[in-house]
Amino acid sequence: MTNIVKIFDTTLRDGEQAPGFSMSSEQKLRMAHSLEALGVDVIEAGFAAASPGDFEAIQTIAEAITGSTICSLARCNEGDIRASGEAIKPAKHGRIHTFIATSPLHREYKLKMSKDEIVRRAVAGVELAREYTDDVEFSCEDAIRTERDYLKRVCEAAIEAGATTINIPDTVGYTTPEEIQDLFEFLTTQVEGADQVIFSAHCHDDLGLAVANSLAAVRGGARQVECALNGIGERAGNCATEEVVMALNTRKDFYNLSTNIKTEGIYGASKLLATLTGNPVPRNKAIVGKNAFAHESGIHQHGVLANRETYEIMKPEHVGVSTDNLVLGKHSGRAALKSRASKLGFEMSDNQLQSVFVAFKELADAKKEVFDADLEALILGEAVGTQGPWAIESLYVSAGSDDKRTPQATVKLSHETGDVKQAVSEAAGPVNAVFLAISDITGHPLHLESFTVQSVSEGKDAMAEAAVLVSTEFESYHGRGASTDTVLAGAKAYLDVINRIERRAVRQASIAAQH
Ligand code: KIV
Ligand code: ZN
Repeated sequence: MTNIVKIFDTTLRDGEQAPGFSMSSEQKLRMAHSLEALGVDVIEAGFAAASPGDFEAIQTIAEAITGSTICSLARCNEGDIRASGEAIKPAKHGRIHTFIATSPLHREYKLKMSKDEIVRRAVAGVELAREYTDDVEFSCEDAIRTERDYLKRVCEAAIEAGATTINIPDTVGYTTPEEIQDLFEFLTTQVEGADQVIFSAHCHDDLGLAVANSLAAVRGGARQVECALNGIGERAGNCATEEVVMALNTRKDFYNLSTNIKTEGIYGASKLLATLTGNPVPRNKAIVGKNAFAHESGIHQHGVLANRETYEIMKPEHVGVSTDNLVLGKHSGRAALKSRASKLGFEMSDNQLQSVFVAFKELADAKKEVFDADLEALILGEAVGTQGPWAIESLYVSAGSDDKRTPQATVKLSHETGDVKQAVSEAAGPVNAVFLAISDITGHPLHLESFTVQSVSEGKDAMAEAAVLVSTEFESYHGRGASTDTVLAGAKAYLDVINRIERRAVRQASIAAQH
């Protein structure tokens, strides 16, 4: 048996389908580039039959990504499988992941199908998927609550039909490490044809055991783990990619197994996901939380100063957390900026580097010292928050404790068509006044659901990161912006949403024009 564990990342499918984590096609593509740079073996890019948007995102990712296998999920029915087959067609390496539930509860109440019928569906699904690609994964949904002899029968039928990966999901996060290890030992030794396929674990975190269960499955013979960055996914989420990878890496002495992940990219990828979805990583989150490598108590600090290993089992730089925190000044050049960004896990194209560099120079003028956290906010801000068509030309606000004067904002925006417009608005607070003025100019009356600001570094001139959640009549959007000025950061976040809405409308109009 190989000693490489494949990493099948489902951030863009199981993760993205969870409430509050949806991403646009453009955002998914950006995330897919980051997963490819991380060295993920398989990117589950979506569920092609779920919506035209999902189909388009998978197809776009399949065209752009060559370093990872691109996978689409499909139920075991003709429509889903054909949609997946079409969506992954442009991929250099494409996979169809087809599934059907096998547990008694799902058979009786959801599918209303007999055991034999499910086997027939599984076989037909795998055979059809094989018409599109040689790389077919089959999953028995709710495998953990399926009778063992029946699970064995379904797996054997799927292998016979041509499946190359057999996935055993703990769909409801019910299993324990001992139980799942035993199950994988059973399947990998008793299923006929087991030696021709890779067995895979897909664990949910309802009991907080997803990572422990995935590692136990690996001990039992799994050689693929399905996981999502920051542990996002249905309900309590999936096994966290960064945790399972770093557990295998840090405890190589125990597992004697490796992954293909370039661990230095973990922190950057996690941060990008948090930014794109507007869901910050909790401070105490393993591996990627702000406190993961912080040592606050005197005893710990003393130990770490004497020898880092007293309280650190991993080196922060191995997951892309930089410890030499002081970055660059206003005299630093593009090469230094690019190299520091790459240490932080961000690979930038020449165009991105140019726009980040301009923003960096402005920041370096406004701030004496630019820290990694500032730079990170800037890169993420430039990456997701500064694409047009609208840009802020100027912004002034007046606010204070004087009851007689209502906070007021004067905002001037330019549009890439050359139009420049200004509006003056009043509201109960200065930030609301800015949002109103932006809505006035752009003609987008959005409903603000939440607005948060956090400081990303220390000191009076720290960078502020603002995040907004706003909704139109049909959809909710996350937007973000960064600046040393809190109100400007908020304005950028609000405009980020409007720009995305407008870019999407242009894309949709051009697709409609082609048909
Ligand atoms: O949790 C689950 O069972 C799934 C399958 C579709 C693999 O996500
Ligand atoms: Zn799942």
